[in-house]
Amino acid sequence: MTPTAPAVATDTAVRLDAVTKTFGSGDAAVHALKGIDLEIGTGQLAVVLGPSGSGKTTLCNIIGGIETATSGDVTVGGESIGGRKPAELSDFRRDHVGFVFQFFNLIPTLTARENIEVIIELTGRGDKTRAPELLESVGLGDRGDSFPSQLSGGQQQRVALARALATDPAILLADEPTGALDLDTGRQILALLQELRDRGRTVVVITHNTSVAQIADRVITVVDGRIESIKDNASPANAADVTW
Ligand SMILES: Nc1ncnc2c1ncn2[C@@H]1O[C@H](COP(=O)(O)OP(=O)(O)O)[C@@H](O)[C@H]1O
Ligand SMILES: [Mg+2]
Repeated sequence: MTPTAPAVATDTAVRLDAVTKTFGSGDAAVHALKGIDLEIGTGQLAVVLGPSGSGKTTLCNIIGGIETATSGDVTVGGESIGGRKPAELSDFRRDHVGFVFQFFNLIPTLTARENIEVIIELTGRGDKTRAPELLESVGLGDRGDSFPSQLSGGQQQRVALARALATDPAILLADEPTGALDLDTGRQILALLQELRDRGRTVVVITHNTSVAQIADRVITVVDGRIESIKDNASPANAADVTW
């Protein structure tokens, strides 16, 4: 068995202070986030839980530097990313963040291996020769030459996970990573995410599915753009034992 990293984080990977996000203005303004304070420790697996429309994706995109907050401070890996310009945010994403999405977002005309290699090429981070090893680490060592359409949903998500790890990001953000998968396949993805946490990576999983919260060190519940609760879980369930 691999040793489990301590659930209690020693330092902070992500910190949000009074973060708001408003889309649009005037009568059409949507207040997606209404003052979010939270902390996620380095090496923690945090689950952001909340109903559809509660602001989870917006929160995830602000942590990952895809969107900017309307007000408040965002600190990731000890660096404030609040006032950064788009080009600087793009550097920040490249250097620090891996993303996994609900619908995998693989490039359909590239093989599994090429989907990973292209990210390494584009970002200039990582080592292209490691693509097979990355596929191996998600249990797809023999599918490098398959195109996304030749893979199941769960396999495609595993390729997406390998791709997200190709640049060795300090933090992995997964927005509804099991949302398009059946239960068993979803469990396999959660197990991989948990394994990454065990190896010391900070993992943030966004979900509307309360079952997913069972695997978290910290559960951050968001309702209507506000934090409803933040709870620490002293003994998170193993993904294999998650009940749905
Ligand atoms: N680009 C956008 N423009 C306008 N409104 C948006 C945009 N993105 C999200 N919203 C709104 O912000 C709120 C929160 O959305 P979102 O963060 O996607 O929630 P969740 O991921 O929890 O379903 C919703 O009311 C949504 O319609
Ligand atoms: Mg969402």
